[in-house]
Amino acid sequence: MSLPPLASGPAGPDALRPLLDTVLDALAAGRDERGGPLPAGGPDAVAARVADALEDVLPDTGDPDALRTLVHALAAGSADPADPLCAAHLHCPPLAVATAADLAASALNPSLDSWDQAPAASALEAAVTRTLARTTGLADALVTTGGTESNQLALLLAREAHGGVRLVCGANAHHSLPRAAWLLGLPDPVVIPAPGGTLDPAALHEALTALPGPLLVTATAGTTDAGLIDPLPEIAGLCTAHGARLHIDAAYGGGLLFSDRHRDKLAGLETAHTVTLDLHKLGWQPVAAGLLAVARPHELTALHQRADYLNADDDTDAGLPDLLGRSPRTSRRPDILKIAVTLKALGRSGLGTLVDQVCARAREFAAQIREHPGFELYDRPVISTVLFRPAEADDDAVATVRRRLLHEGRAVLGRARLDGRLWLKATVLNPHTRPDDLTHLLKLVELAERSLPG
Ligand SMILES: Cc1ncc(COP(=O)(O)O)c(C=O)c1O
Repeated sequence: MSLPPLASGPAGPDALRPLLDTVLDALAAGRDERGGPLPAGGPDAVAARVADALEDVLPDTGDPDALRTLVHALAAGSADPADPLCAAHLHCPPLAVATAADLAASALNPSLDSWDQAPAASALEAAVTRTLARTTGLADALVTTGGTESNQLALLLAREAHGGVRLVCGANAHHSLPRAAWLLGLPDPVVIPAPGGTLDPAALHEALTALPGPLLVTATAGTTDAGLIDPLPEIAGLCTAHGARLHIDAAYGGGLLFSDRHRDKLAGLETAHTVTLDLHKLGWQPVAAGLLAVARPHELTALHQRADYLNADDDTDAGLPDLLGRSPRTSRRPDILKIAVTLKALGRSGLGTLVDQVCARAREFAAQIREHPGFELYDRPVISTVLFRPAEADDDAVATVRRRLLHEGRAVLGRARLDGRLWLKATVLNPHTRPDDLTHLLKLVELAERSLPG
């Protein structure tokens, strides 16, 4: 029996090339089968289609058509962020060039837990993280699996720097922050009101005055629900005045740094001790592409670990870079490659253009909604999130409209509860989206709402 070919090595390219053709053909066939932003029929129909493609998860003998069959089924059953009508979440359509780079990362399979597994990838990571950190106004950055891991690490570094810490976060903070406090065994977080969607500085001042330290305040630059930015300079000033540490979760808003037009919205970011960035949101990367920027690189010694097989003292003394303290993970993909390729291929201005494009589309969509008598707009978008609802609908109707569009495979919209009411959420992350696409989206919502009983 011949052994299956490998992805790298001398035979790798010739083995991969026909498989790539198979993948690309299956992606196209699956997309044609789906015919819209997501599969119609809801969870049961999708699960049945997947079961049909799988037949037997672990057959006794292999199926030579497995790649085509399963890629086709996955594409047919996907919510496709490259479809302009798929706009619910911070779920971006990845750039072709980043995805191609990710293929190279998979083929070469460097693992960033020791230099002898990732000689060039570790050098690339060191250079790119330094540049991204400086772009943020901080000194160094770690690569993470996304905003959740970055937020967790920010709390861990704060705890280690101060020998314990209490989290003070807005009611608008991402759920990963209180969850990280729980995971790290920290006291229950103090939650500051966020009326209108942003953290209230007066309430923060009161809390910081009353609470004993050490405290870690977290602010958000780009809230998950509404894409709003907390008043960063004011919050930074309060943290300085009260001796509290500041973490800014810019998982969504961090991408604005690439844009000359929008960068000023992040003024104050550089004052934070740590900043979460996430390029699989406003950075058009395939998941995962998270970063945690840090102002004080010496605090990273908290992550230091010695494992003789990976970073023996004598190896380190002899000049082999010690990578183990760059993450709490051990084996680690070179996610930096697709990021580095994207930064170099597009440049800051190329990425800035994408940011400007989605922000402009979101503003135009908001204007369409404002002018439409059948809809209510939550507010003018700050980044690229637009919240709206049919003017006459109650919350149940809003929720039903969203589910109906999902079930029929017509549109993927999110939901957000703000000011005590439920809103439909469109997060524009597709730079190819045209104003007409968003007009069509609004029409679909209108038709779905009209078709509700009563
Ligand atoms: C503000 C914010 N922070 C953190 C996260 C978590 O990011 P990830 O899903 O990459 O872990 C999200 C996710 O949407 C987010 O909106």
